[in-house]
Amino acid sequence: MALVIDGKRISQEIKNEIKEKVAELKEKGTTICLAVIQVGNDPASTVYVGNKKKACDYTGIESVSVELPEDTTEQELLSIIDKMNQDAHINGILVQLPLPKHIDENKVIETISPLKDVDGFHPMNVGALSTGKKGFLSCTPYGVIQLLKRSNIEIDGKHCVIIGRSNIVGKPMAQLLLRENATVTIVHSHTKNMREITRQADILVVAIGKPKFIKKEDIKEGAVIIDVGINRDENSKLCGDVDYADVFEKAGAITPVPGGVGPMTIAMLMMNCLEAVL
Ligand code: GUN
Repeated sequence: MALVIDGKRISQEIKNEIKEKVAELKEKGTTICLAVIQVGNDPASTVYVGNKKKACDYTGIESVSVELPEDTTEQELLSIIDKMNQDAHINGILVQLPLPKHIDENKVIETISPLKDVDGFHPMNVGALSTGKKGFLSCTPYGVIQLLKRSNIEIDGKHCVIIGRSNIVGKPMAQLLLRENATVTIVHSHTKNMREITRQADILVVAIGKPKFIKKEDIKEGAVIIDVGINRDENSKLCGDVDYADVFEKAGAITPVPGGVGPMTIAMLMMNCLEAVL
């Protein structure tokens, strides 16, 4: 039977640690401010942005919220970011993705100063991660590492298999696990023998965006299963990319959805905001 990795509890622990450090900094006269930009009103983005602002309130980080209409031009958005880059009061800038189709996401990401890029998406921060230098880490993979470490799960020497190769999760996840001395395999939609490979994983990170995609036949007995997916099942209930009930007896440890990786992403965003002023 699997150990349930409680992301809600661990993220709370991290937010409490951050709250203490933020208060100490405030006493010394240093404040932290995160600017959150949302373009349009995608309902999922509105929920995520709301949760990020709530976490700021909890930890004592100031948040400035900019809500722009769907028809905002790329140039308008870029000049707002440019102003924030120059504004010494703003320490972190987050542009909620996805953006409307007429705006080039890469251009937006590259306009954010790498020193304020608390999402860790700027090519400078991506490059720093892959060459082992200091920089902002992408929040979800950073959160997965914290979940493993704070659950005393050894990463060194383990075979970690990641399903998915996105810039936000799969690729930075691979780099971070490599940094922890794991042997890393990435599988994706073009992989020929995907399920043969997932069965070899000591630690399986699933970020493929398909509800209940991973079944017990796809995992090794005792494997650690990290489920990054957030989907709706046939009854509109939240579920991950892993069939939780099916794999539960066979897995060694598993993150639930909700309450696993999700809350960690926001906690690590707060950590990046803190690191922005250190
Ligand atoms: N959309 C989905 N996940 C993220 C994230 O981590 N950061 C931003 N900015 N947008 C997202």
